[in-house]
Amino acid sequence: EKEGYDYFMLKEIHEQNIAIKNTLIEKDNIKEIISDLDNINRICFVACGTSYHASLTGKYLIESMAGIPTDVVLASEFRYSANALNENTLVIFITQSGETADTLKALKKANETSKTIAIVNVLGSSATREADYVIYTKAGPEKGVAATKTYISQLVCIYLFAAILAQNKELLDSLKKVPSFIEGVLENESKIIEIAKKYKDARDFFFIGRGLSYPTALEGALKLKEITYIHAEGYAAGELKHGPLALIDNEIPVVVIAPPGDSYDKTMSNLEEVKARGAEIIAIGPCNDEFIKYEVADSFCIDDEISEILAPIVYIIPLQLLSYYISIERGLDPDKPKNLAKCVTVE
Ligand code: M6R
Repeated sequence: EKEGYDYFMLKEIHEQNIAIKNTLIEKDNIKEIISDLDNINRICFVACGTSYHASLTGKYLIESMAGIPTDVVLASEFRYSANALNENTLVIFITQSGETADTLKALKKANETSKTIAIVNVLGSSATREADYVIYTKAGPEKGVAATKTYISQLVCIYLFAAILAQNKELLDSLKKVPSFIEGVLENESKIIEIAKKYKDARDFFFIGRGLSYPTALEGALKLKEITYIHAEGYAAGELKHGPLALIDNEIPVVVIAPPGDSYDKTMSNLEEVKARGAEIIAIGPCNDEFIKYEVADSFCIDDEISEILAPIVYIIPLQLLSYYISIERGLDPDKPKNLAKCVTVE
């Protein structure tokens, strides 16, 4: 079943180009759902864990491209927030399993007032029966506890949704090119293995990014915690100097996510800030002269045609691989992290 891979997680990371091609087939379904919705003046995403990080990306995309105010709420906190939902609010639930108890509870509550959509991977799961509309991520079964290909597919669903809502044909077309860029990253896996060997004994890690790369930083940190048991924090790059910079020293590697675009220069100045405190930097940025010449301890470059807007779908891949290989270097089983289950059916 693992088709020659040592673990499901590695197999699933490598299937991400195919997963996205399948997700893109949902375009027509998403178009139909959007044409059926009217008078929506607010969107609210609700999810847990990795699905929550995909939702954060959705907020950036929908607000910047379609101009619709969008909130993101953790499913476990949904009942405690006032939410102010009404019939003009669209509530989008993202859940790989479709069985997460916190998410299902929130979905039932939202159904009382608003139109609901569930973005789900598992066919026929509870969330698909509860929601008014269903979008399937079509990533195929995911066996590793760590969400990898389903995260990428959730992102692609959100990109499709935002691009159709905003009638952004250019973005819709550019999504078709993403699988080949993912293949490009996977071809350079050996570089990540080297980095993993070097940092496998670190006690703490920071991941920083700005704008659309902020959820990528959060997701990179979650993957590392989940399967390597190393303490990791994901931070908005500009927020470091408001407290956590005090922690930075030469024992803490900092992963800097720096795709080309509006936030690039500011992210690079945050990189300088942590470098000046002695941190070892692992920078993920574009394959162009300016980035390659940058003097950091380690770097990984990605085709510079992948600009900031598409970066979340591609820049997460080296971070998934980094967690996977650190887990292997530490002699752990990345498919079965301790204390965790693939599907969390208790609140
Ligand atoms: O099935 P769901 O998407 O509702 O699951 C939500 C989280 O439990 C899940 O994403 C979790 O954070 C992942 N195992 C992280 O890799």
